[in-house]
Amino acid sequence: MKFVAFNVRDDERKYFENWSKENKIEVTLLKEELTSTTIAKAKGYDAVLGFQTGNYPDNLFDELAKFNVKVFSVRNVGVDNVDLETAGKYNITVTNVPAYSPNAIAEFTITQLLQLLRKQNLFRQRMAKQDFRWAPFVGEELGHMTVGVMGTGRIGRAAIQIYKGFGAKVIAYDPFPNPQLEKEGIYVSQEELFKQADVITLHMPATDENYHCINEDSIKLMKDGVYIVNAARGALIDTEALIAALKNGKVKGAALDTYENEAPIFNHDLSGQAINDPMFKELLAMDNVVLSPHIAFYTETAVQNMVEVSLASAKKVVETGTAKTIVQ
Ligand code: NAD
Ligand code: COI
Repeated sequence: MKFVAFNVRDDERKYFENWSKENKIEVTLLKEELTSTTIAKAKGYDAVLGFQTGNYPDNLFDELAKFNVKVFSVRNVGVDNVDLETAGKYNITVTNVPAYSPNAIAEFTITQLLQLLRKQNLFRQRMAKQDFRWAPFVGEELGHMTVGVMGTGRIGRAAIQIYKGFGAKVIAYDPFPNPQLEKEGIYVSQEELFKQADVITLHMPATDENYHCINEDSIKLMKDGVYIVNAARGALIDTEALIAALKNGKVKGAALDTYENEAPIFNHDLSGQAINDPMFKELLAMDNVVLSPHIAFYTETAVQNMVEVSLASAKKVVETGTAKTIVQ
């Protein structure tokens, strides 16, 4: 049995190497992303481990099928960039790592929101100029707010626990409600959530149905001065509409760990280079936006689990044809 992993970062290496030693399975580690060119390097392997926020090449599964690869394991949660239909057509099993650390993402979103509520961007700018005054940047307290959680899966539920700890009122929307939360009576319709929430936080996958679900029309339904938090997927928000609402004050602030055109920007060193994305540059320059390069997941616990669980799932599929983390 032989595996190959693409887009391997230095912080992942020790976990790959230890697992490979312990399981006596050869794992080739490549720095390159999976592209229509680098895919040739998958030849001769039983399993391919992928990890990227942007698109996988269109010919991914056609090529993997030619190489007789049995399993494609992504070392992350979201599979919105994986063509599951074509994988199925070629009988290639796809696995993901659904719960490497829901808390990592949940904690991060709240950290970002608190920065917004306490106007940290503004204080940082002032302090860089040795201006240490307080006024007029009075903050707001989360404990006095109603938080609307969209998506009550693993991450949404972890976030709910934290919000409750702050004393916030939590309401939620999910087309597939969680039975325990249903008993607590926190679910409302999507429209009611838009109308009632002071903070709207997104924790659902990107699908064709919810593409740009935060848009000009849904923003109109929201409270004046709402805060929006998105560490799920950039495609959930019509960024142009969000920027307009941030400018006219309808949306008071946004905490964004994802951005709809992030792939050529996030996790790349663009120091000294021009960024040819006016919308992104606008977000980056806004005082009422806290922006991060898709790092909500990025903790040691998460990285270790992502590597180890994806490898274990690949091994299980090659050995038995199945695994707990198969994506359908
Ligand atoms: P999950 O599958 O456990 O939960 C997702 C929930 O969203 C489900 O309960 C589902 O019913 C619900 N849902 C689907 N469509 C919805 C809609 N239109 N409105 C409201 N709810 C909807 O997934 P999870 O582990 O909680 O992860 C959620 C998403 O977070 C992932 O799909 C991924 O896109 C994103 N994510 C981001 C990071 C990061 O680092 N920023 C890390 C991991 C995951
Ligand atoms: C996920 O696990 O779905 C994430 O969003 C993390 C990402 C860096 C791929």
